[in-house]
Amino acid sequence: MQYIPGLAGVPATESKISFIDGQKGLLTYRGYDIQELAEHSSFEETTLLLLFGELPTSDELARFEDQLRNNRRVKYNIREIMKNLPQTTHPMHMLQVVVASLASFYPSTEYMKGATENQDYINDVTVKIIAHMGTLVAMWEHMRNGYDPIEPRTDLTYAENFLYMVTGEEPDKNWARLLDAILILHAEHTINASTFTTMVTGSTLANPCSVISSAIASLSGPLHGGANQKVIEMLEEIGEPENARAYIEERLKNKKVIWGMGHREYKTKDPRATILQKLSSSLLEGKSEELSTAFKTALEVEKICEELLGHKGVYPNVDFYSGILYQEMGFDVGIFTPIFAVARSAGWMAHWREQLQNNKIFRPTQVYTGAGKSCYLPVHLRGKGSAKELM
Ligand SMILES: CC(C)(COP(=O)(O)OP(=O)(O)OC[C@H]1O[C@@H](n2cnc3c(N)ncnc32)[C@H](O)[C@@H]1OP(=O)(O)O)[C@@H](O)C(=O)NCCC(=O)NCCS
Repeated sequence: MQYIPGLAGVPATESKISFIDGQKGLLTYRGYDIQELAEHSSFEETTLLLLFGELPTSDELARFEDQLRNNRRVKYNIREIMKNLPQTTHPMHMLQVVVASLASFYPSTEYMKGATENQDYINDVTVKIIAHMGTLVAMWEHMRNGYDPIEPRTDLTYAENFLYMVTGEEPDKNWARLLDAILILHAEHTINASTFTTMVTGSTLANPCSVISSAIASLSGPLHGGANQKVIEMLEEIGEPENARAYIEERLKNKKVIWGMGHREYKTKDPRATILQKLSSSLLEGKSEELSTAFKTALEVEKICEELLGHKGVYPNVDFYSGILYQEMGFDVGIFTPIFAVARSAGWMAHWREQLQNNKIFRPTQVYTGAGKSCYLPVHLRGKGSAKELM
């Protein structure tokens, strides 16, 4: 048996949901190019496409949009759980805890008995989780600063409502459209770590709220979704573009990664990074000097990394430019990764449903490298160097 670290290149499933060509820098959802979806679709429509495999009719889309709008409000006791968390709780940890708690507010005894063919429950919980994700992140933005959250509205799109709930202001149509495109770009990405987590937890027939909570935990790490926060912190540390080369060379010398660079699947620039870079350029034109510094520094970092890391196939990934855009929208760095989670809930739910259709519990094997057969010695006969001293 050959062990492959990180299961690199090992197929973990058959899936119809999305496709990556890492050499050409291509990403499609159900056969549709991500660029086209980012330009013409909405998060709501893309979510339906991911869930059901086809672009919806206008009636289907309107019905789904209504369902999402009508499931934005969270129950009083869910808010109480949030109120009892320390205000210092990172928004990703809040999200993980509160999404797990949804299982007790929306239980399904039938589902827990293994009746996974209960389509009504599966559809209801899909809508509930996706609709709640944005609300929870936006609510916590106020609560962790000591304020009452802002109630969701039912007259706004998903992206508009999120902006409204975070800022408390009437959402600007251009910002909302941009956020919508960002949500589309983050909605799905084949079998990445958090999607694999979704499949593994889902394969045990655990409650879907627990499934998504485990996916949120997986996304929170800096090698995965947490990288977008790290990128902004890195750009702030670098400061002016002329400091970039010395900073990068120093990090590489010390074998440290450059945040927002590299991807297991892409050996060229991540197509989502290219789209986000274009969006950033058009958005930042004419903005204040201070705001565009982060963008200029990012361009310089990209140029230097191409020179120093291009031969290894390390190029910007989606997290490299998303943080700059979030910062421009006025979002606190703490909710960069949660926004990623809000968007990715669409892809997670699609994979959870696909997993259930042909479920087999995940149970890989291992290559054992531990001790051979050992003889048990009673504790008083054990000398120095026993396990106790190593602890
Ligand atoms: C995403 C990531 C975990 C993929 O890891 P992976 O597929 O296991 O790739 P590897 O670690 O095997 O990288 C291959 C080579 O490129 C280098 N490399 C990869 N990403 C790098 C980065 N961000 N900065 C510097 N070097 C990097 C590795 O050091 C390795 O070099 P070596 O062959 O000389 O040892 C990795 O690129 C990374 O840590 N990136 C930064 C975190 C990040 O932005 N994550 C968000 C992903 S969307």
